[in-house]
Amino acid sequence: MKIAFIGTGHVGAALAVRLDASGHDVVLAQTKEASASLAAALARSKSLTARPLADAVGGAEIVFLAAPFSATEGIVKPLAAALAGKVLVDCTNPVGPGLSHGLKSERSGSELVQSLAPAARVVKAFSIYGFENLEDPSYPSYGVKPVMLFCGDDRDAKAHVARLVADVGFEPLDVGGLVQALHLEHMTLLWIRMVRAGGQSPTLVWAALRR
Ligand SMILES: NC(=O)c1ccc[n+]([C@@H]2O[C@H](COP(=O)([O-])OP(=O)(O)OC[C@H]3O[C@@H](n4cnc5c(N)ncnc54)[C@H](OP(=O)(O)O)[C@@H]3O)[C@@H](O)[C@H]2O)c1
Repeated sequence: MKIAFIGTGHVGAALAVRLDASGHDVVLAQTKEASASLAAALARSKSLTARPLADAVGGAEIVFLAAPFSATEGIVKPLAAALAGKVLVDCTNPVGPGLSHGLKSERSGSELVQSLAPAARVVKAFSIYGFENLEDPSYPSYGVKPVMLFCGDDRDAKAHVARLVADVGFEPLDVGGLVQALHLEHMTLLWIRMVRAGGQSPTLVWAALRR
């Protein structure tokens, strides 16, 4: 798939490198003159390239949003037309004061993203763990893969994202429509509270077990 990344920091770079390594055509969006995170991401793989934001998005089938949540409106609103029909993978998390929900749990960040780009096919994914697990999701001694929960309203878009989730190394689990994004964001807050604030290992992940 042709994939563009907006945001190439901890999350964007980790996913871009893994998707590039699994054979996707990955382009990193240039959003300013000089970006240390973009340069660092490019240095990680010879096959990663950078293009100006409009070109990167215009040429992509799937666009990853992996920038700070506070930058969402400024990034997404001007791209609304360019994103029409494209899969927009929202990796962002709205985090407020005291590790509360950044939109006061009134609506999810992903629903805000969808409202800013109404014709994009938004899927919330790759958001529930720290970047350490996006860099390396392998847990060889367990015999199961960590689960990656994702949600969105477009069935076809979610099928594409499920394949990317598997390519990165997680078990994909579709948890429903975009209305579920608020619950994923709370799940992320739980993880952040346990790990970043609570001192548990950043390699803490969830697994989906069934019988
Ligand atoms: N860190 C985690 O463990 C983690 C895990 C899951 C989800 N998330 C979510 O993923 C998102 C990215 O987190 P991160 O840790 O990767 O952040 P990060 O390391 O700080 O990287 C942020 C990236 O966004 C770019 N950026 C900043 N402002 C921008 C703007 N106005 N327009 C376009 N690009 C902009 C930065 O570029 P410059 O370097 O040039 O400023 C950088 O490439 C956040 O929403 C976060 O909540 C984080």
